[in-house]
Amino acid sequence: MNQEKILITGANGQIGTVLTEALQERYGVDNVIATDLRQPEHQQGIFEVLNVLDGEKMDHLVQKYNVTQIYHLAAILSASGEKDPRGTWKINMDGLFNVLDTAKNRNVSKIFFPSSIAVFGKDTPREFTPQNTVMLPTTVYGISKVAGELWGQYYFEKYGLDVRSIRYPGIIGYQSLPGGGTTDYAVDIYHKAVKGEHFSCFLKEGTTLPMIYMPDAIRATIELMEAPAEKITVRTSYNLAGMSFAPEEIAEAIQRNILSFQVSYDPDPLRQSIAESWSASIDDNQAKQDWGWQPEYDLETMTRDMIMNLEKKYAVV
Ligand code: SER
Repeated sequence: MNQEKILITGANGQIGTVLTEALQERYGVDNVIATDLRQPEHQQGIFEVLNVLDGEKMDHLVQKYNVTQIYHLAAILSASGEKDPRGTWKINMDGLFNVLDTAKNRNVSKIFFPSSIAVFGKDTPREFTPQNTVMLPTTVYGISKVAGELWGQYYFEKYGLDVRSIRYPGIIGYQSLPGGGTTDYAVDIYHKAVKGEHFSCFLKEGTTLPMIYMPDAIRATIELMEAPAEKITVRTSYNLAGMSFAPEEIAEAIQRNILSFQVSYDPDPLRQSIAESWSASIDDNQAKQDWGWQPEYDLETMTRDMIMNLEKKYAVV
């Protein structure tokens, strides 16, 4: 196999931070080019400043490093996106087109494009949401992800570009923080708990959402990208499930480990309405069948691992 050279956009983000390291371990530090708007404070390996709206620079970097794969993670998330709909549309769509066109014109053979449970809307079956279903999202982020899925499929069918995608649930990890999403509370809650602080939740009790632990999300991404092309029957984006819970359930799971932890509920109308438009649980049988997906973590095992790792993190600072 030829040596892969992987370029990542949004490498400083919640997923990018962890995925960059995982890809460096797997493919070698010198074969991964991390890019983002700003140079991070601590950076191991190759980093280049890149605004995904700058197609020329993207093209230049792809040539400079002989890039063969792009993981395009840069995007504005659901809650932030509502503050500037047109700006979000521009970043999420033009950024994707720059990636797809650069790949098509150069020697890039594989693209990863993250989609999201945000593609679903109020008319989608909420429980065990099927792979193929009604997708009428209400957020600009969700609209851009549905459109992005379809454009990925279009470039695959018209130009033979090997675009692969996962509809991520909310992702929970200790290594990095999410920014501007509706599922962010489920990360913040652990930080507050480990620091011995009270947590005020921006979603109501009973708001069940699909979530996944970071190691499962990273493993799913790499497994999908490494699967033989003939196994990939879905060229829009794969449903993926880890676990599903409501705020009071994650709070109780934490309280089983940190007895003094206290939570109150102060719903934010925007994020509450976004959450209510999304699925509660996901049918990911297609991913299981096609490329052998299997999640490892549930709420209890994730909670123990999150707390252990955050305790270490806060003990050293
Ligand atoms: N976690 C994302 C958000 O809340 C969903 O993809 O916006």
